[in-house]
Amino acid sequence: MTSSASSAVRADQPQEAGNEPVDPHYLRDVTALGDSLEIRARKAIWSKSRIKLVDRGVRIDSRLYERLMQFRLQPAIEESLEIADAVSAADLRRETIRLLESDSGYASLRELAASPEEMLSVMGQMPIDHGLAVRLTVMRERRPAMYAHAVGVAALAVCLAGKAGIAGDRLRRAAAAGIYHDIGEMHVDPQLLGTARSLAESERRHIYTHPLTAYFVLQEHDCCSGGVADAVLEHHERVDGSGYPRGIRGEELGQLGRVLSLAEMAAAFFAPKLASGALQRMRVVLRLNHRRLDAALTDTLIDLLQKAAPGQPAGDPGESAAVIAKVEVILAVVEDWRQLRAGGGGDGAAFHWTAERMRDLERGLLEAGLGGVDAAALAGVIEQDETACRELAAVARELGWLLQEVVNGVYRDPAVVPGEGLAQWASRTRQKLAA
Ligand SMILES: [Fe+2]
Ligand SMILES: [Fe+2]
Repeated sequence: MTSSASSAVRADQPQEAGNEPVDPHYLRDVTALGDSLEIRARKAIWSKSRIKLVDRGVRIDSRLYERLMQFRLQPAIEESLEIADAVSAADLRRETIRLLESDSGYASLRELAASPEEMLSVMGQMPIDHGLAVRLTVMRERRPAMYAHAVGVAALAVCLAGKAGIAGDRLRRAAAAGIYHDIGEMHVDPQLLGTARSLAESERRHIYTHPLTAYFVLQEHDCCSGGVADAVLEHHERVDGSGYPRGIRGEELGQLGRVLSLAEMAAAFFAPKLASGALQRMRVVLRLNHRRLDAALTDTLIDLLQKAAPGQPAGDPGESAAVIAKVEVILAVVEDWRQLRAGGGGDGAAFHWTAERMRDLERGLLEAGLGGVDAAALAGVIEQDETACRELAAVARELGWLLQEVVNGVYRDPAVVPGEGLAQWASRTRQKLAA
């Protein structure tokens, strides 16, 4: 074994008493990366209770995983590692150029950005220290999709922040918030991320912790002071209080947090190759989420999209029958909700939270022209009009997502138990959406 742990530690050393369980996923990625890339301990690796685990100079690879797993490390492992070809700010700038030259939607940022040169210059000045460079390298090598997403969100955040009049140091903070926003996901079981299967409540809650994990990591890095960690903590929060992890609302959500949450939402549309109508579809999504995001920033983005793709249709038409079936499901869920509410079907925090979300969703229905519509009449319209069919397909898909989020939110807080009526409605809604 070329890599040997310090003889101060017995192979059967139990996990240190009094410590919470060590999260295995990040450590597994770090050690596994050492199998293909040279990683060495640039200084000794210590446990929190000052047991020397690995000597300076030792090569780190997956054979050390089981040993290190048994301890809480202090400082964090990345601080003790030397890694070949670690990510630098210049790499991030190059990666952004690659993105702008790709055939993904990010290529349109060349037109959307007030100044692409300034965006590249900001990416090239990314605040990055030794530990964060190691983290980003692990991300780049082990979770390449997450890395590409981080670069894309950072570029989008810089564009949006620039449009909002943010400049100088704050612009660099917007970039940093973008690049680091999902580092908490490196501590989440990769099997849970992006899986097609529906997750159990406990699994979903596990994912909901990632902004908080990232926040605590960034607290340890001075180069990310000045609101970066706060913005990262807020990247899944929504202005209407429907986000996570804290459900903050309105003014509680800071300016960088607003920029980041919009960039995060928009990234899903920029990442793939821009299929016909993708920008228009994004407009539909932004319109339907208007109350959840910063209104002025969202308008700015919609304006930009309008300029970038004025005449495109709104995405795949889909079979009109399938689109109508989706709309019918949504209308049925809303009707079911109205009956629950009319029947005095609930009280308590979970019910009030859901009522607020459903009120906004009903407003979205009205604004999309689906208030009090008759599905049969709608079918008649979209069979004749392909553009209307495409638009409705995009609306139906987004409303379906929003309903799914409402249902997930019912169980978000383990301390809040939904009443029986609400729990039954949530379960019926899940079945309807899955059908
Ligand atoms: Fe993200
Ligand atoms: Fe995230």
